[in-house]
Amino acid sequence: MNAPELTEDEHLGLYQRATENGAEWWRVSVADRPENYRLEHGTDNGERTGAVDIDLVVDAENLRAKLKKWRREGFAIDIDNADTEQDTAERIAFMPALQRAAALTAAAKQRHAEGVNGSVRIGHVDVPCGLDSPLVPRVNSAYLFSERFSDIVEDIVENRRVMLIGHTGAGKTSLIEQVAARSRHGVLRSNMNGQTTVGDFVGFWTVKGGETLWVDGVLPTAMREGLWLIVDEIDFAEPSILAALTAVLEPHGRLVLKEKGNEIVAPHPAFRLFATANAVGAMSQFRHLYQGANLMNEAFLDRWRVYMLDYLSPAEEADVLIRTLAPHMTRTLATTLAAIAADCRAAFAREDLSSAFSTRRLLDWAQLMLRTGDPERAAGPAIYAKVSPEDAALIRGIIRHHIAPAA
Ligand SMILES: Nc1ncnc2c1ncn2[C@@H]1O[C@H](COP(=O)(O)OP(=O)(O)OP(=O)(O)O)[C@@H](O)[C@H]1O
Ligand SMILES: [Mg+2]
Repeated sequence: MNAPELTEDEHLGLYQRATENGAEWWRVSVADRPENYRLEHGTDNGERTGAVDIDLVVDAENLRAKLKKWRREGFAIDIDNADTEQDTAERIAFMPALQRAAALTAAAKQRHAEGVNGSVRIGHVDVPCGLDSPLVPRVNSAYLFSERFSDIVEDIVENRRVMLIGHTGAGKTSLIEQVAARSRHGVLRSNMNGQTTVGDFVGFWTVKGGETLWVDGVLPTAMREGLWLIVDEIDFAEPSILAALTAVLEPHGRLVLKEKGNEIVAPHPAFRLFATANAVGAMSQFRHLYQGANLMNEAFLDRWRVYMLDYLSPAEEADVLIRTLAPHMTRTLATTLAAIAADCRAAFAREDLSSAFSTRRLLDWAQLMLRTGDPERAAGPAIYAKVSPEDAALIRGIIRHHIAPAA
């Protein structure tokens, strides 16, 4: 709604008066410019609606004067109709109003980024730099920031809790690590599929040299030191770990260390929390592939921005192959390899294949192929040995379809 200055009896809509052989009307709607109104005038001569002969934009004060004048001249509005007219006006006004609001938000963010002590541009997002620590991941110069990642990067800047879901090797962990590497933030990772206990995660008491000491777990460590914490495979986490996490899912959420006399840990402003999962939410349909994964409840998921990360497109993946394995990986080789990966994924989507084909697997296979000069031999340890004999046979068929044997 973009008519803040109009009072209750000043409506948008159609004002009409009868003329000798028809009607004359003024239509009032919201203009593209903020707090301005569009006035259109026309006459109907027998037919329904004549052409618009006056079309102008006025401010609220001007409109108010016109409304008074029209009232004196005998124009009236059909209030019931006015409501629908107003609905139409609101409907039309929404997108221009939203675009203005989004432009103002972007400008405010830009001013904020300029005030911060150094930032790097990732895609079109300015990411404030961190404190530089030994935990900053190594920059992978071959890493490709797809345009699709911009929303995720903006969420990181805004301190949202981001959960990335998708198949294995789609690039969930590396996306966060590469943003951290470029903006010089230290990263801690904690994998929930395995031996991570609530003690490792939250902290525990221990005895050292006759003294009882508290050791912070990864969560309070990251919170105090302003590190980025990636909780990998969160769908395998035990309930006590999820309970500890829930407290810090709010942007300024604090952690209470119950075991340490209810000590409160407040988050450092640079602290960020991420999770990755293969089989939650929109990925639940693939749960049979990720045995033992738990369904996460909706209230927990609602505390995250959840992004589904798909594999890179064949063109993007070919680029990544070339950049990663330069200078020997040529465009011809890369295009074929990316097409093979795409075909394997299509077979997987049709459920002809039961194993996903990750970017990690593709890179590994390509690397080994450059060493051996033999795609089939390289596929042994990089692909075939990791999948069922049936899957291996099908993948071998796809590879042969794309690569003719050497003469
Ligand atoms: N955009 C990209 N640019 C370059 N390389 C990429 C990109 N995305 C993924 N990769 C490559 O794929 C590998 C696997 O990605 P990553 O480990 O991030 O996957 P993941 O989704 O976290 O997998 P998992 O579910 O198995 O943990 C990375 O090490 C990287 O080499
Ligand atoms: Mg990962």
